[in-house]
Amino acid sequence: MNEVEKQKQYIEKIKKINQNQTLKYHMQTMGCLLNENDSEKLAGMLEEMGYQKIEDPKKADIIVFNTCCVRENAEDKLFGKLGELKRLKQENGVIIAIGGCMMQEKHITNKIKASYPYVDILFGTHTLHKFPENLYKTLEEKKKLEDIIEIEGKIYEGIPIKRDSNIKASVTIMNGCNNFCSYCIVPYVRGRERSRSPKNIIEEVKELASNGYQEITLLGQNVNSYLKVEQEKAIPIEEYEGIHSFATLLKAINKIEGIQRIRFISPHPKDFTDDVIDAIATCQKVCKLIHLPLQSGNTKVLKEMNRKYTKEQYLALVEKMKKKIPNIKLSTDIIVGFPGETKEEFEDTLEVVKKVKFEQVYMFIYSKRVGTPGAKMKNQVPEEEKHKRFDQLKTLVENQIQENNQKYIGTTQKVLVEGESKNNKNLLTGRTDSNKVVIFEGNKKLIGTIQHLKIISEHMWYLKGEM
Ligand code: SAH
Ligand code: SF4
Ligand code: F3S
Repeated sequence: MNEVEKQKQYIEKIKKINQNQTLKYHMQTMGCLLNENDSEKLAGMLEEMGYQKIEDPKKADIIVFNTCCVRENAEDKLFGKLGELKRLKQENGVIIAIGGCMMQEKHITNKIKASYPYVDILFGTHTLHKFPENLYKTLEEKKKLEDIIEIEGKIYEGIPIKRDSNIKASVTIMNGCNNFCSYCIVPYVRGRERSRSPKNIIEEVKELASNGYQEITLLGQNVNSYLKVEQEKAIPIEEYEGIHSFATLLKAINKIEGIQRIRFISPHPKDFTDDVIDAIATCQKVCKLIHLPLQSGNTKVLKEMNRKYTKEQYLALVEKMKKKIPNIKLSTDIIVGFPGETKEEFEDTLEVVKKVKFEQVYMFIYSKRVGTPGAKMKNQVPEEEKHKRFDQLKTLVENQIQENNQKYIGTTQKVLVEGESKNNKNLLTGRTDSNKVVIFEGNKKLIGTIQHLKIISEHMWYLKGEM
């Protein structure tokens, strides 16, 4: 019996225990899209065990936190919440389970065990699929459990999943990362890069299509190196629909009937080969907004970051993409205040931002991560200076976004209608191909369809449209 089948038996056992009760789970997801996709699997397992989702943690029988440790503020978030749970635990004995990337850090789990002894289950990124077994042991044997392994886990297929949306879905195509950018904790907490098999991915997307899903986002820390590690290590890959690379995967998914839009996140500039550019250009379902993480616009800083490209190479790649993919738009990630970054070097980042004119920029203040090479670098930039640079970049980006938003006014955009607007239930919300939020008045029946909307005004983080 495979591991997932074994877990399904635990799901059945818990279902029996929970019979004739309406038990509730409360879950909080603190990280990236991959982390969210993991939470959807946790939710899938919990619902099969008979638990129902609830927003209010006070009414929950089990609370699950899926954590992130990419920056310090993500970690602070967890400890704030853990403090609040002590009373809940004392009052109603709620089961508390914490999983995700942060649990792969020894100093964190030690701190939790010492200061928050009321936590019941700690699980890592490689043992997510064993959640039913761990929960069973906690329920039956009243044990505190720690199920964290350091070696990279396998890829488990067939874990139940309860998706957040019935219009858009994330599909993880690879786990882990081999790049070891010197600031980044991800390779340490997610393990080595390994790709899912083409067949499993295509089958998942086909099933989503048959269930009415319109948009697919392919997820991985380095999606455009899909199957590269396997090829380098000569690990046999089962041939399926001609897929042997990221480009051929895009082409195969593009052919799946029913799916209207394909997105992917994140590619790495160093792996942006011509075949990937050609695939984006020729696959009409692939959205022409490409996320291309820059991190820094200075070649020396990029070298220190271990990013494996120069400022000039990045700009040349952007030029090539703009030439080959009509109407392409780019978004990016930038870190300010990496150790040793001088004011002049930071100016290079501003220069690249001015040149490329990104559709969206996700900006981060450098955060020291225990165990990464960056944390040991002597020349850390003072907090105050990091914030000054961040504000400078933010002002530039906001001006560019406003200017760019103006260009949308008067145009007609294809918008995938996602649901009611959060702030006003009488309005609908959707996204353009370029991932811009559009708010408009319309019938709820339009949810899940693509509509052509005329853009009438811009409001920094969203556009207003009309039918
Ligand atoms: N694999 C993806 C994203 C990883 S994490 C990629 O390579 O693009 C998402 C973003 O968080 C990164 O792109 C980076 O901009 C930011 N980030 C990662 N580590 C960070 C750190 N220590 N401090 C600040 N930002 C960080
Ligand atoms: Fe982190 Fe770099 Fe890997 Fe992205 S590519 S997850 S930034 S190490
Ligand atoms: Fe994602 Fe955070 Fe882990 S960004 S991969 S949840 S460290």
